[in-house]
Parts: sequence; C-alpha cells; structure tokens
Amino acid sequence: MNEIQAPKGVSEYYPPRSKNFEFIRETLISAARLSGYELMELPVFEETELFKRGVGESTDVVSKEMYTFEDRGGRSITLRPEGTAGVMRSVIQYNLDKGTLPVKVWYSGPFFRAERPQAGRYRQFYQLGIEAIGLPSPELDVEVIAVADRAFKKLGLSYRLDITSLGDSASRSAHRKDLVDFISKLDLDEATQKRAAINPLRLFDDKREEIISQMAKAPLLLDYLSMESAKSFSKVQELLGNLEIAFTVNPRMVRGLDYYTGTTFEFVSDKLGAQSGIGGGGRYDGLMAELGGSDISGIGFGLGIDRILLACEAEGLLPGENDSNSLDLFLISLGEENKDYVVKLLNDLRNAGISADMAYGDRALKGSMKAADKSGAKFAVVIGDGEISSGICALKDMKSGQSKEVRLSALAQEFAI
Ligand code: HAM
Repeated sequence: MNEIQAPKGVSEYYPPRSKNFEFIRETLISAARLSGYELMELPVFEETELFKRGVGESTDVVSKEMYTFEDRGGRSITLRPEGTAGVMRSVIQYNLDKGTLPVKVWYSGPFFRAERPQAGRYRQFYQLGIEAIGLPSPELDVEVIAVADRAFKKLGLSYRLDITSLGDSASRSAHRKDLVDFISKLDLDEATQKRAAINPLRLFDDKREEIISQMAKAPLLLDYLSMESAKSFSKVQELLGNLEIAFTVNPRMVRGLDYYTGTTFEFVSDKLGAQSGIGGGGRYDGLMAELGGSDISGIGFGLGIDRILLACEAEGLLPGENDSNSLDLFLISLGEENKDYVVKLLNDLRNAGISADMAYGDRALKGSMKAADKSGAKFAVVIGDGEISSGICALKDMKSGQSKEVRLSALAQEFAI
C-alpha cells in the first residue's frame, strides 16, 4: 500500500526542529504582548467574498492562489490566505471599532496560498500578525515597525527594512493618472496590459528584465504625496531615526495586497535567496469601510514564521540550542519493582511544576541513560533499591557530568526558583 504523504508544499514542524519553531513563534508573540497587543483567535476559513472585497481581485493572492471550495450548505468558503481581512471582519462583527481606539490585536496560525512550492514558499505557512486599528497617527506606524524590530533583535536576526508611502487617495489618483499615461506608451504584451489596467502599480513588481528597464523612468508615487501624506511620512522616518531603527526608503516597493495606503514596509533577510521577505505590512485606510465597518484606518504587519526560522538557522542562531524549554529532570528506575515508586514521584514532581519525564519500557540502564541524553533534560536521577531505602539519590547534571546527593523528598525544592 502507498504511504500517505502530506499534501505538496505544506510546511510541517516535528521534533526536534519543532522546538525552534515554537521558540521563534513565542519570541514574536512576546514582542506583540509587550506593546499591549491582545490575542485574536480567528477561524481559518471565511466567506470567499471577504477576501475578494478585502484583499482585492487584482492581486495574485485572490485571483490565483486561494483555496476556495463550496461547503455542504453550498456556501463559497476560502481558507484564509492572510489575516488582516479576517481581523477587520471580526472587529466589525463584534463592534470593537465602536469602543476605545486603537484596537490592538495579535494573531498567529496557518495561512494558505496555492503558490508554486519552493524553499521558503509554502501552500500552508505560518504568520504572526498584529493590527492597530482606529487611529491614523505616525506614532502607531512606528510602534508597529518597532514590535517587529524588537522581535528580530531579540532573536539576534539581521534584517533590512524597506519603507515607502502610498499616500492618501488624492496622492494616489494624481500619480495614477501620470502612471497610466506613462504605461500606455510602453511596449507590453496583452496580459501585462491587462494587469496594469487593474492596478498599474503592479508593474513596479514585475521581475522581467524588459519590464524593469521600461519602468526605470516611471513616475514614482512618493513624488506625488499630498502635503499631509508627505508630512506624516517624514514624521515616520524621523521617529524611526529616534528609535535607531535603520531603514531604506524604497519608492518602488509594491506590496502584494490591494488594501494598502500610506506607510507600507517590508522586512527582508539576505540569507534566504529568492523568498527573502520575512515580513511586511502597512496602513490600510479604506479597508474597514469597504467591509461595512466604520471609516477608520489601521496598520499592521504579518511576519512569516517559516522564513524567520530559516533565516535564524542560516545565521547559525539555532534557537533550539537554547534550552529554555527543555526538561528539568529525567528519572530512571532501576529494576521493574521500583517502577511504581518512580511513576508516583514523577507525578508529584510534575504537580509541583517541575518539567520531568522518565524512561518508559524495559530498558537496561545504558538505554535509559541514552533516553535521558536524548530528552535534553538538564538533570537525571537513577532510582533503585538503594535510593528508595536510604531516601537519598544522586542528581546528575547532564552538561557537566557532576553529581550531588539530594534527598528524594527534597528533589522538588532543588528546582524551585
Ligand atoms: P504578506 O506580505 O502577504 O502580508 O505576508 C506576510 C509575510 O508572510 C511575508 O513577508 C512572508 O514572510 C510570509 N509569507 C507569505 N506567503 C508565504 C508563503 N507562501 N510561504 C511562506 N511564507 C509566506 C500579509 O499577509 C498581510 N496580511 C500583512 C499585514 C498585516 N498587513 C497589514 N496588516
């Protein structure tokens, strides 16, 4: 019989590497919590219409990459390709936009895009996202960027930050007029013309040499910013400078989703080859209103946990060697008749909050010591007749190999902080 395999292109994490994944996800989540963001746990599937209206039908994500199906009730359902639209839907549905602003939330989980799989590009991947909804202040733009910066610095990960501004609607329509005019004079195939007709900015993102060279002199949106947008964007830059967050203004940066306005940004790692974007985000002024909520602005990011893990590994940061989440203690019972005692002791230790495990099965001492090694536990104890009758055991430090005598009844206290 054929072995059943995971579907093509999904990312999966299993021991021991899952420890690295967990460590990275926790570090990112901690950075969000530290800045006052609260959890939003959302469904992984939504009505298809949400993404069509929220993310935009001209985007590759919506037009080519959605996992869409009809459910048993004949409704069109889509596995979420990104998180922002779902957060907006929930904020509107539960009237959070009518409460104190900004609403600051984080979310983490799997996202789905039917892309061509390659290293760092998956059909199911993981993001940590934050959204700060309700106020158009440049201070919030900078806070959002600073959350990611703090997380990357905590991981020790080097990254580049590209930022630009898509301005307000007045800025964008002034630019669009000149850009459409410029594009109409270019030599483009029909498919590219069609793409440009829906969203001319997409041509800045085209990787083909003949398009890149033709777009070299295209008018740039940054040169069309209204007074207000320009003021806000320079405030963002000034504040980033104050916080010592290095950035490059990249006026040709194009985000892959249509809801962006104002400040947009991308975090890039030089260690990843083609899939170098480890995160990205920006402001979305019209999205809430488009989805039927209040006409308020928001800003957020999505960080790609899979790619951040790859980048950390490529930089030799190996968070897995950080033993912060490995076991405190491993118990080995010597002799079948002592097993019940060890099972009870193990349970008592766990009840006291000590992370512990034991050698299960009928293993000789050598095999059990191997299991202790493999568990990554900081300490190990062998318990046989002698230990039980004397009430004293040898607590072995697995790193140094040193042992010290400890009363069995005082084992838990050894680990109390
Ligand atoms: P995004 O740029 O489409 O933005 O995705 C954010 C990050 O998710 C990317 O930078 C990348 O690291 C990761 N990512 C995207 N697609 C894949 C894939 N197929 N495989 C592996 N990683 C991937 C958003 O999703 C927006 N919702 C971010 C946002 C929040 N903007 C405002 N608020």
